Amino acid sequence: MKYRIAVVGGDGIGPEVTREALKVARSAGAVLETQEFELGAAHYEHTGEVLGDETLAELMSFDAILLGAIGPAIGSTTVPSGILERGLLLRLRFALDLYINQRPFLTLDPSVTITHKPVDMVVIRENTEGAYTGEGGLLRKGTAYEVATQGSVNTRNGVERAIRFAFDLAQTRERKLLTLVHKTNVLTYSGDLWYRTFLEVAAEYPAVTTSYNHVDAACIYLVEAPERYDVVVTDNLFGDILTDLAAAVSQGIGYAASANINPARTGPSLFEPVHGAAHDRVGTGQANPYAAIRSAAMMLAFLGETAIATKIEHALTVLPPSGATTAEIGDFYGERVAH
Ligand code: IPM
Ligand code: MN
Repeated sequence: MKYRIAVVGGDGIGPEVTREALKVARSAGAVLETQEFELGAAHYEHTGEVLGDETLAELMSFDAILLGAIGPAIGSTTVPSGILERGLLLRLRFALDLYINQRPFLTLDPSVTITHKPVDMVVIRENTEGAYTGEGGLLRKGTAYEVATQGSVNTRNGVERAIRFAFDLAQTRERKLLTLVHKTNVLTYSGDLWYRTFLEVAAEYPAVTTSYNHVDAACIYLVEAPERYDVVVTDNLFGDILTDLAAAVSQGIGYAASANINPARTGPSLFEPVHGAAHDRVGTGQANPYAAIRSAAMMLAFLGETAIATKIEHALTVLPPSGATTAEIGDFYGERVAH
């Protein structure tokens, strides 16, 4: 089938890695009609616009969105912190109800990783609630009596749909092991909701083995005993932090893909590497397109192109040749999926 894909290359190495991702997807047989959208730090600097209502409405008409990276160069003073995060990335996640952030981690060669321990896990990060909703505010800003609050919003519906998705996924995997990660010993209100919901849903999935870890302990286990994890489900902020750690101890941030998905399919889902814009690598050939390629494979899988997605995922089980440039890595995987 042919799909209409909105491509947001974004900033820094974003356009370079999405180009390779599309190259590999097409080599594998995907039929994609793409339209590029100029969004991100550079676009904001030129136009003062982050994401207009019309652009958002237009994006909603696509089958999926493939995003590279968003963000100004480090030290840039033209884009205040939070403008692009809240106005673009989070706005898309919220407006499109991308309530699942699925992040797989797979060690391809433990001899070249930090811990030398193989990781094979998927984190299901709740993606529309928690500390990310923007609840809170500043009072008496700039005075000695200043107050800052930043709430964490957890709804039964939001928590349950993330947990259900994680159980469904765990059930399809060989180990069928699902771990809830939270901080129930301190966050006693939200932790109570997450833990209770987890136990209730677990009763419907007798084939899935469940466990629970506090988030601080999970950080140690990820480094010392990552084989404890198969599927992990957690809230938005814990998921953000834990997935950077999981990237670092598996193959590295250049290999970390993600799918921001709306399983109810009321609109397009968004696929993006976990890494940032890495402005210092622009044009050097030093940008690793692996995460973008894997994100594109996740996109094709979600669109129902199972055979093509599987072909790419299979090709991605080997590391690219060491020293290969961005385009060479794209060519390497492109050739592997072409036949
Ligand atoms: C991520 C990023 C984003 C997040 C930022 C850029 C808003 O760190 O996708 O993990 O915190 O979710
Ligand atoms: Mn992050």
